[in-house]
Amino acid sequence: MGKRGGNLFSILNVHLHIPFFFLVLFCLQKVDSRCILFNFGDSNSDTGALTAGLGLYLGPPAGRLFFNRTTGRFCDGRLYVDFICENLKINFLSPYLESSGSNFTHGVNFAVAGAATESNAVVFPLSTQVGQFLHFRNRTRELRPLGKGSMISEKEFRSAVYSFDMGQNDINIAFTANLSYPQVIDRIPSILSRIRDSIEIMYENGASKFWIYNTGPLGCLPQTLALRKKNDSVLDDFGCMADYNNACKVFNAGLSDLCDELRSKFKQATVVCTDKYTIRYDLVANHTNYGFESPLMACCGHGGPPYNYKDRMTCGQPTASPCPLGSRYVSWDGVHNTEVANEIIASKILSGEYSKPQIKLKSLCRSRKH
Ligand SMILES: *[C@@H]1O[C@H](CO)[C@@H](O)[C@H](O)[C@H]1NC(C)=O
Ligand SMILES: *[C@@H]1O[C@H](CO)[C@@H](O)[C@H](O)[C@H]1NC(C)=O
Ligand SMILES: *[C@@H]1O[C@H](CO)[C@@H](O)[C@H](O)[C@H]1NC(C)=O
Ligand SMILES: *[C@@H]1O[C@H](CO)[C@@H](O)[C@H](O)[C@H]1NC(C)=O
Ligand SMILES: *[C@@H]1O[C@H](CO)[C@@H](O)[C@H](O)[C@H]1NC(C)=O
Ligand SMILES: *[C@@H]1O[C@H](CO)[C@@H](O)[C@H](O)[C@H]1NC(C)=O
Repeated sequence: MGKRGGNLFSILNVHLHIPFFFLVLFCLQKVDSRCILFNFGDSNSDTGALTAGLGLYLGPPAGRLFFNRTTGRFCDGRLYVDFICENLKINFLSPYLESSGSNFTHGVNFAVAGAATESNAVVFPLSTQVGQFLHFRNRTRELRPLGKGSMISEKEFRSAVYSFDMGQNDINIAFTANLSYPQVIDRIPSILSRIRDSIEIMYENGASKFWIYNTGPLGCLPQTLALRKKNDSVLDDFGCMADYNNACKVFNAGLSDLCDELRSKFKQATVVCTDKYTIRYDLVANHTNYGFESPLMACCGHGGPPYNYKDRMTCGQPTASPCPLGSRYVSWDGVHNTEVANEIIASKILSGEYSKPQIKLKSLCRSRKH
């Protein structure tokens, strides 16, 4: 697929030759100024796919801070992926499954809430999202000559950034099936191998820029704490469930190894891994630095302290109510971050400091690589 030899400006090179880098960027912007982003993931980056795909309604107060309507985002406003699009100066990514009013000029969001790598547990597993991408690319090829569809060119498919944010639901599914900690850990290699398979399919189909997020601290979610904590001895220094977080750390260590493996295997690709765990754990552990109140309590929920989370009385249901506008919470609904938290998370992702290699997403998407 395509020509992989044209790696003119490898990222390392541009870092070593700064003036050359600016010259190149200047030229590239004239020729190829748009960033294209294809995202695969779960509710952390779902911009409305689950509600569109299943015909569900996620009622207010979701969206109250930014969109002023419900968009299917599990948030009071923008997700981290929305802030990333703002930074890249591209449209918010439309969900692949949204048939009305979508605009795929700048890419597609295949992420669906609840998604996991394990395909028998969920409706839109990672493998399905990858299949949807291949379908989308075929349709784009058919429609392009007619001036219809996304109009994304073959060259743009090759130079697009492909981001993956997966793993949280797989780990959560294992714990909620009442597996013991060692049994949960035993499942991790197969989760990682399904992620590897998906990324390899994308690479074989010409993708060469991968941006892979690790998973956040599942043990700090108000939902996990409210539903799964039996005994305070299982908590870490910041009040999070230690075994949940440890499982996430084991997964993340494996994912980091996978990134290294893919980086050496895909010689013509750039594989960036971003440590969202550290970013999100810091928000909880150092919450006062960011002006956050009760970092383990949902803004929107039921039951009050310590977690304000109750099964079947979750945000969006009439029995749940939100915190006052203007208050600063890390967690919106007990599972997902608030817009204020997402803005901080996105700015840290965009800084490049939490990534290996330390590349900025903006320069990756603009670099000419195919
Ligand atoms: C939402 O409403 C607020 C306050 O009325 C306004 O400032 C903001 O621009 C609106 N946002 C959108 C996306 O319409
Ligand atoms: C889709 O978005 C692009 C870029 O913002 C814009 O130029 C185009 O007009 C939009 N297409 C439709 C059908 O709205
Ligand atoms: C895309 O088209 C190719 C033939 O051009 C076909 O082999 C492949 O199965 C198609 N994939 C999807 C998902 O439609
Ligand atoms: C896990 O255990 C809890 C309580 O011990 C029980 O209520 C729940 O049904 C169990 N879940 C599964 C999937 O077995
Ligand atoms: C909490 O669990 C630990 C280990 O299972 C046990 O030793 C301890 O007695 C429990 N504490 C309470 C208060 O139940
Ligand atoms: C809290 O912030 C300090 C200073 O920025 C940092 O060194 C430390 O790693 C943070 N703690 C956690 C758990 O993220």
